[in-house]
Amino acid sequence: MKNVKLSDIKVLFDETTIQNRIKEVASKLNDSYKDEEVCVICVLKGAVMFATDLVKSLTMPLTMEFIRLSSYGHSTSTSGKVNAVDIKLPDLTDKNVLIVEDIIDTGLTAKFLLDFIASNFRTKSTKFVSLLDKKCSRQVDVKSDEYCFEIDDKFVVGYGLDYDGKFRNLRFIGYADKSILK
Ligand code: IMP
Ligand code: MG
Repeated sequence: MKNVKLSDIKVLFDETTIQNRIKEVASKLNDSYKDEEVCVICVLKGAVMFATDLVKSLTMPLTMEFIRLSSYGHSTSTSGKVNAVDIKLPDLTDKNVLIVEDIIDTGLTAKFLLDFIASNFRTKSTKFVSLLDKKCSRQVDVKSDEYCFEIDDKFVVGYGLDYDGKFRNLRFIGYADKSILK
């Protein structure tokens, strides 16, 4: 991995843009769930910032679960295999389940998770919300119900997303040119 510095990162979405868009997405979810209870599943580590900000603008009664998946290891492209580091969940039978992810890239992680939920629980409903959607990189047919921003083929960091474990703490979403990462 390259030693990428903060000064190598260009801003793609600044803090205000992110926070405003999250409130819009939350408002859509509030309209669709009304006052029905929801179980929010945050996919660690990447979705931590997005999930915690999103739930602050949700108005229905909700519970939160945290699971941890990984597919990247030390790389900027998926290994093709999703590793369920920790996927312990309570019984989700008859629950409205809202999965919160940082980004859908190839779609392998989202598909793994949706299949896992569908084969283990008869939920009342299952929705998938992602901060980012890299539609151009899709390898399997999977869609999010809501997403904040669509991006093209960039490797992004910040606001939960990492490069070699770093930059998750940035308030903005940024990218480094491919030449810097290679
Ligand atoms: P997928 O399984 O290929 O859809 O990738 C999903 C996971 O890969 C996401 O949950 C992220 O954690 C990670 N990922 C994909 N693209 C990026 C990126 O541009 N920056 C950082 N992490 C990424
Ligand atoms: Mg993720």
